[in-house]
Amino acid sequence: MSDKPVLAHVFEKQLDRREFMQFLGCVACATAFSGFIEAEAQTTTTITPFQVLGADEVLKSGEYKLFKAGKLPLIVYASDTEEPDSLALNDIWLVAYSRRCSHRGTTIREPNSSGVMHCPDHKQDFDTKTGIPVGPVHRTNKPLTQFKLELNPDNTVWLTDTVRVS
Ligand code: FES
Repeated sequence: MSDKPVLAHVFEKQLDRREFMQFLGCVACATAFSGFIEAEAQTTTTITPFQVLGADEVLKSGEYKLFKAGKLPLIVYASDTEEPDSLALNDIWLVAYSRRCSHRGTTIREPNSSGVMHCPDHKQDFDTKTGIPVGPVHRTNKPLTQFKLELNPDNTVWLTDTVRVS
């Protein structure tokens, strides 16, 4: 098997800052995605793919991993049900979300035993499988930013792009 990642199209994806803002659709989003931005020069922006699972790494249903890409906190969660834009892997579906609250950007907590992530600021809860706001508090109806996951032929899993911006 080749060592060369087939995600080369993603590695080579470089946009200037203006194109990137248009891609995200709003200036506020740029803050949320600052972790993906290598802003060595103000005029050049690189979206860096992020490996989230090694070739021999297995997440069972309900398990998760937390990451930081720059300042952006992320979660990859193994769902027991297929979710939109999830990556099917063996008998689970992987989803990846930002852990920046879609209300005002506070870092939300890791999932509790009920599969809910809680924002400590204004108490909004989010479903870990879907990233959708749930519970009795209604601070926002916007789901968390979601990321695309891709399986490389070497069985590593990479976060490669955005599929939903909150
Ligand atoms: S910042 Fe999370 S509920 Fe307000």
